[in-house]
Amino acid sequence: MNEYIQAIRQRNEGQNRRACVVTFGCQQNEADSEKLRGMAAAMGYAVTDTPAEADLIVVNTCAIREHAEQKALSTIGQFKHLKAKNGNLIIGVCGCMTAQKRRVDELKNSYPYVDFTFEPSALDRFPEYLCEVMDSRRRAFHIGEAAGSIREGVPILRSESAKAWVSIMYGCNNFCSYCIVPYVRDRERSREYQYVIDEVKEVVAAGAKDVTLLGQNVNSFAGGCSFAELIEKLSEVDGDFRLRFMTSHPKDVSDALIAAMAKSKNAARHFHLPLQSGSDEILHAMNRHYDRAHYLSIVEKLRAAMPDIALTTDIIVGFPGETDADFEATLDILRRVRFDMIYSFIYSPRAGTPAAKMENQIPEEIKSARMQKLLAVQDEISLEINQSLVGKALRVLVDGKSKNDANTYAGRSEAGKLVHFKSEADLSGRFATVRITRAEPFCLHGELQEK
Ligand code: SAH
Ligand code: SF4
Ligand code: F3S
Repeated sequence: MNEYIQAIRQRNEGQNRRACVVTFGCQQNEADSEKLRGMAAAMGYAVTDTPAEADLIVVNTCAIREHAEQKALSTIGQFKHLKAKNGNLIIGVCGCMTAQKRRVDELKNSYPYVDFTFEPSALDRFPEYLCEVMDSRRRAFHIGEAAGSIREGVPILRSESAKAWVSIMYGCNNFCSYCIVPYVRDRERSREYQYVIDEVKEVVAAGAKDVTLLGQNVNSFAGGCSFAELIEKLSEVDGDFRLRFMTSHPKDVSDALIAAMAKSKNAARHFHLPLQSGSDEILHAMNRHYDRAHYLSIVEKLRAAMPDIALTTDIIVGFPGETDADFEATLDILRRVRFDMIYSFIYSPRAGTPAAKMENQIPEEIKSARMQKLLAVQDEISLEINQSLVGKALRVLVDGKSKNDANTYAGRSEAGKLVHFKSEADLSGRFATVRITRAEPFCLHGELQEK
């Protein structure tokens, strides 16, 4: 990696070149984009958010649902005219979409202005591939070349100083039957825990107040210690910050993890525990390896250990074969658990996954009707939970000004809830205590309290 970084740095010397990385998808991709920007900066590019002023554009794509892929493709399509204006513009495409042969073929054949592609597992080869395009002036489509190892020491240009992503593992071994991730991000591999601890210390020293450990299934972390042990070790890190992690697979949540969290002085009182469905039949067809009873038992243990813990989840509606009764079972869990927030998705068939080939695909109109009903049930629950916070003082990490009003700021509570409040002083990137005065299903309003 480094020799290619140096080689490009020399070519870029005095050229005033700019690079833009456009990101789709999850936090994992956000974290990868921070590495792409870090490498671009090391190669001598000034990093910009404006594609129109860039000499190098990298589109970091997502493949989780059809809509995500279509969005990425249409964005790439819009860059055609930029290439027409700037003959030196280089366009690269990476991320989960480009780990699929049929998508790479599509880019090769129908998007002639795309110069190169590479997979998520080959992220650190970005400088090498770019160097090759610059040298040969030929298009290159790299697929199936990733070693699947982990390279430490890739430069990172973080987008925010108060919030930091720290990847602790890559890939996924779970093969949930609906999901493309194991096919596009390869097998699970963990970083050695010492690197994780060092990175957390580094971002906290640089001012991070909210640190999220990232992996598709953090509970199966195996970087020289268990995930519970990692949380214990990180609780020793000095500094006023919140430690979060995502995502936890319910089949692997251990008692040791719950105990480590409850004891930790920096673990946020928030747990994101994707349910996907409340029906045992559907969970089985999804290859999730837990049932509703097991899920509910974890919720009970979490609340017994940390009574004030906020819970959030992911739900898929309209998985193949989902009956009205299956869907009702999901609503039933929503009503029993009373999540603070849910992220809900309409099932989207992904080519190459077992669920895409299942019979009994659910018609679109039934999927959207179920989604509407799910949202209505959850809105009511979220509103009730939020109303119960009125009058309470919450510690909020301030994101920044809210767009509509110069004196209004927005921040996130420990549970991850959006809180709006007025302030004369700019408190961005700092903790503030806000007394809640009004609740909505998706946000809270409050007054800044004197310290
Ligand atoms: N590793 C994480 C999730 C990663 S994907 C986990 O195991 O929970 C984020 C969410 O996208 C998933 O939790 C799931 O709810 C949703 N999702 C994944 N594949 C999907 C598909 N084919 N259609 C609709 N939603 C999907
Ligand atoms: Fe996808 Fe399942 Fe892996 Fe999550 S655990 S990334 S849903 S296969
Ligand atoms: Fe994330 Fe999308 Fe890939 S959700 S792991 S960027 S498919």
